[in-house]
Amino acid sequence: MEYGALRALRSAPHVIVVGGGKGGSGKTTLAMHVVVYLLKAGQRIGTLDLDSDQGGLTRYIENRERWANHRHIDLALPWHNRISSARGERTDEIESRELAQLQEAIAPMETSCDFLVIDAPSHDNYLMSVAHLIADTVLTPLQDSFLDLGALGLVDPLTHEVTHTGHYAATVCAARKLRRQFDPAFVDWVVIVNRPCDPPLVKPCLGKLALRIGFKDAAGCAERAAYRQLFSLGLTAFDALDEATLGACPTESHLAAQREMRALMESLRLPVSPRGLRQVAARSEWLMRREMPLELDDIVAQPEPAEAGP
Ligand SMILES: Nc1ncnc2c1ncn2[C@@H]1O[C@H](COP(=O)(O)OP(=O)(O)OP(=O)(O)O)[C@@H](O)[C@H]1O
Ligand SMILES: [Mg+2]
Repeated sequence: MEYGALRALRSAPHVIVVGGGKGGSGKTTLAMHVVVYLLKAGQRIGTLDLDSDQGGLTRYIENRERWANHRHIDLALPWHNRISSARGERTDEIESRELAQLQEAIAPMETSCDFLVIDAPSHDNYLMSVAHLIADTVLTPLQDSFLDLGALGLVDPLTHEVTHTGHYAATVCAARKLRRQFDPAFVDWVVIVNRPCDPPLVKPCLGKLALRIGFKDAAGCAERAAYRQLFSLGLTAFDALDEATLGACPTESHLAAQREMRALMESLRLPVSPRGLRQVAARSEWLMRREMPLELDDIVAQPEPAEAGP
């Protein structure tokens, strides 16, 4: 891939890639939670679904639109695009078509979005590698299993010695190396352990692996029915989980999801712009004041006190 093309893609907003080398680890669920968390923080969000087979993020966003219309509620939405795999005889032709699609999708977001959130497929392909080349933050959900950990590295479960780098870690490391040749910016990579066992399985091994391949680890989500239910409504733990939005009273599973997702987002320290935060604060103050009765001072201007004479 030409550096020119990469540079052009890099002028995009802060890019968050949610990826990992194992299916079903919670990438799409996490991607949608990051999107709604940032929308609620007043950020302008673009999204890209690179998983052309399943289109999980696209379906999540479609469910959200449908639920908002059905309930007559206002649910913020990102500027969404889905990129499908190109067809062709030659690999170079397919790749250049896919790259063109990606550039076309990203170009309008350059000035109109603060963040671009990309949901990557779990299998390795050209678009997935390009996404990792342009990422500022990579988020990798991981199930608490040594089988799944293999995508990052092979670790002896007894001695915790790292024996090999896994295939997904190799992709991220190669992307970071290539990226450094044209952009010195630091790429933040966070591995998030989801559905932890009790006692935790992979957590004690993550430290050595993190040092070897360069990531931080964060606590993710427990196994909760709420996440599966929220998908079909297009909702996340960051939406108002009241009766008007949810269509029912929130359960303890919803409230626990809200708490753990908030803690996770805080630990990620995403570079949220102060402009968006100011807008959210101004809007909530306006909404609060709109409900309050006017005070006499707001209606009748008080006379200026007379200046004392010489
Ligand atoms: N914390 C959780 N508790 C219970 N179910 C969950 C949780 N997180 C995700 N799920 C469910 O697990 C399944 C897989 O999640 P998700 O689609 O987010 O994973 P994925 O990594 O994007 O999968 P794929 O690799 O197939 O794209 C979905 O049915 C989702 O609703
Ligand atoms: Mg997915």
